[in-house]
Amino acid sequence: MNEVIRVSQLKKSFSGHSIIDGIDFVVPQGNIFALIGTNGAGKTTVVKMMTTLLKQDEGTIQVNGLDSSTEAEKIREIISLTGQFTAVDDVLTGRENLVLIGKLRHLKDYQKRVDTLLKQFDLQEAAKRPVSTYSGGMRRKLDLAMSLMSEPRILFLDEPTTGLDPQARAVLWQMIRQLKQKGVTIFLTTQYLEEAEQLADTVAILNKGKIALQGSMAEVKKRLPQGTIELAFADQETLKQAEKRVGGELNEERLTLTVTTNDEVQKITEVLSALQQQQIQILGFAQKNPTLEDVFFSIVNQQEAGK
Ligand SMILES: Nc1ncnc2c1ncn2[C@@H]1O[C@H](COP(=O)(O)OP(=O)(O)O)[C@@H](O)[C@H]1O
Ligand SMILES: [Mg+2]
Repeated sequence: MNEVIRVSQLKKSFSGHSIIDGIDFVVPQGNIFALIGTNGAGKTTVVKMMTTLLKQDEGTIQVNGLDSSTEAEKIREIISLTGQFTAVDDVLTGRENLVLIGKLRHLKDYQKRVDTLLKQFDLQEAAKRPVSTYSGGMRRKLDLAMSLMSEPRILFLDEPTTGLDPQARAVLWQMIRQLKQKGVTIFLTTQYLEEAEQLADTVAILNKGKIALQGSMAEVKKRLPQGTIELAFADQETLKQAEKRVGGELNEERLTLTVTTNDEVQKITEVLSALQQQQIQILGFAQKNPTLEDVFFSIVNQQEAGK
């Protein structure tokens, strides 16, 4: 494994409050690594330390073999960061924002690069207008294009799609995948399990300053809570009949039965047809996928059970 990033025993406190409490991970060349955590978990703090914007209290960060404490300058030359809050200038047009980066970074041939990126990101028309007229999705695209001006081999994306509508999110996902295909190593943070599932080779779940779970998406998924369906019934009697037939967890107050289906169509069909065969009438049906909160809850329970 050709590793590009290695983080060891990283710690950070703010005014005596421990935010990051000893985390370790490695990102191989060309991989997408997703750090997952809820709001306030410490994702941006980790990204800032990795991109040399903030000093850690303890531990080491190596990027391409360079140590962040002693070789921060060199690290800055080879990475690019798209922050959680867009860094675009509202007054300038899209094109002007890109040109500015080209000038600031003393890039050769930057006009050509600007044209290529505008085309790639489908921003050619919009590039003539001030950014103040852009939608959230267009801003994020421009922001990403700006961080790609210097053709970085290592890219940090801090919550790249938070606040975007599903369509804009899908567009950004596609672009991130294309970067991976070009061999760019990507470290991203997200609050969405689904995003990690869509993009990441390796995921790490950050909770209470520690990494609660880490591994390939497939490995982690095996340990996540399963998808369920919630069935609603008209009265207690029907509810009990249904439970007798298909099992699951009763909620007598709400007259619902929750059955684990692992999101498998086959299993869902089995449950529904078993009830239909017994002529048990279902009033309502809802499919529930685990939320990040469910995941943390389940991980903490598993860890406590294992002690
Ligand atoms: N410069 C700072 N000074 C004090 N507290 C901070 C600072 N930066 C972040 N924090 C706190 O650290 C915690 C983690 O923040 P952050 O890394 O931004 O989380 P995330 O990006 O996962 O939402 C929060 O409680 C936040 O208030
Ligand atoms: Mg953040």
